[in-house]
Amino acid sequence: MDFFDYRDGELYAEDVPVAAIAAEYGTPAYVYSRATLERHWRAFDAAFGGHPHLICYAVKANSNLAVLNLLARLGSGFDIVSVGELERVLRAGGDPAKVVFSGVGKREDELRLALEVGIRCFNVEVPQELDRLERLAEEMGVRAPVSLRVNPDVDARTHPYIATGLKENKFGIDVAEAPDLYRRIADSSHLEVEGIDCHIGSQLTHVEPFLDALDRVLELAEGLAAEGITLRHLDLGGGLGIRYHDENPPLPAEYVAALLERLGGRDWEILLEPGRAIAGNAGILVTRVEYLKRTPAKWFAIVDAAMNDLLRPALYDAWQEIVPVRPRDDIPVREYDIVGPVCETGDFLGRGRHLALGEGDLLAVRSAGAYGFTMSSNYNSRPRPPEILVDGGRLHLARRRETLEDLWRGEQVLP
Ligand code: LLP
Repeated sequence: MDFFDYRDGELYAEDVPVAAIAAEYGTPAYVYSRATLERHWRAFDAAFGGHPHLICYAVKANSNLAVLNLLARLGSGFDIVSVGELERVLRAGGDPAKVVFSGVGKREDELRLALEVGIRCFNVEVPQELDRLERLAEEMGVRAPVSLRVNPDVDARTHPYIATGLKENKFGIDVAEAPDLYRRIADSSHLEVEGIDCHIGSQLTHVEPFLDALDRVLELAEGLAAEGITLRHLDLGGGLGIRYHDENPPLPAEYVAALLERLGGRDWEILLEPGRAIAGNAGILVTRVEYLKRTPAKWFAIVDAAMNDLLRPALYDAWQEIVPVRPRDDIPVREYDIVGPVCETGDFLGRGRHLALGEGDLLAVRSAGAYGFTMSSNYNSRPRPPEILVDGGRLHLARRRETLEDLWRGEQVLP
């Protein structure tokens, strides 16, 4: 459930008319709802009841400092994949002791900073990363907490670009190789066994693949326990899907209940790394219709947002709902491709949408709170949109619109 609803014939973000936000900050603009973000985070947290757990929000989904800060205030942990994300978490007031560091290609400087600030653990997925970590930890006189990310080889049944838990993907360590690596960690005086993790993909709409992955992880954890190697937590990654269109993903409460049932009273601490399920439906992208263009083949609504602002439709052919901010009944509904000004045929936000549109009308692309702004770029030298956080009846400019000057900041011509 989210807090973007129609009242008196127009779309509101919490208690603020979206049209008023567009009037104040212009378009295109990302608009986030505080109440929605918090509700989604709490849904995961509350579902565990008294079972030991930590919700580590996946920063890559939406890394605005204001968003991270809200979650940090709730006591959230964070899943990061770069030193940039680590610094964001720290600046937003996140607790480094609740940070897990994922990713296949962690550089030495990234490992060093994470060791310095004392993160919860490194989700290691390349054996050589252990050598690097061990050397750095020794140099720094510390122990590096390690969780191995295993590849459970389960089919997440999602888009191939965002499926990560199959043998042919670059992610994770083969389950069969893991026990030896754990023995190596346990024997090292500069590494410490912390946990085990997996992440099988994103936008999953069924619980079964998660349960299959949990089974693999449990089997490994119990095998290790039998030889005296004790893990402190099981981290099942992120990946719970949301409704964009007609998907029916399990609710966080249903997903967590299924995990706890499968755990059957075993008291491992569970970590989850949800990104999309927290931020996705907590944001919209507001855009204005510039032109309605008729070609011999079809109608195009050319809007002021483009693939550089929201890449998902172009990259994954993702379907995101596009709704009018002020629905009209004074003009005919037509079928439109909603496209941006970028010079690419793939520059669309939606295709074949039935809408009653006039030039100048505002549209909202829904479910844009995750992998929206974070995947945006300056392609076609387009300044990126502002991010506005709505909090009840108040607006907070969480990131100002980029200026033209921002576009060439850091660039130099030859002397
Ligand atoms: N943990 C790890 C290790 C991950 O790689 C990811 C996402 C997550 C957690 C969070 O997954 P979520 O709960 O958000 O599904 N750009 C794509 C999604 C890529 C996801 C990458 N990894 C999209 O827009 O659909």
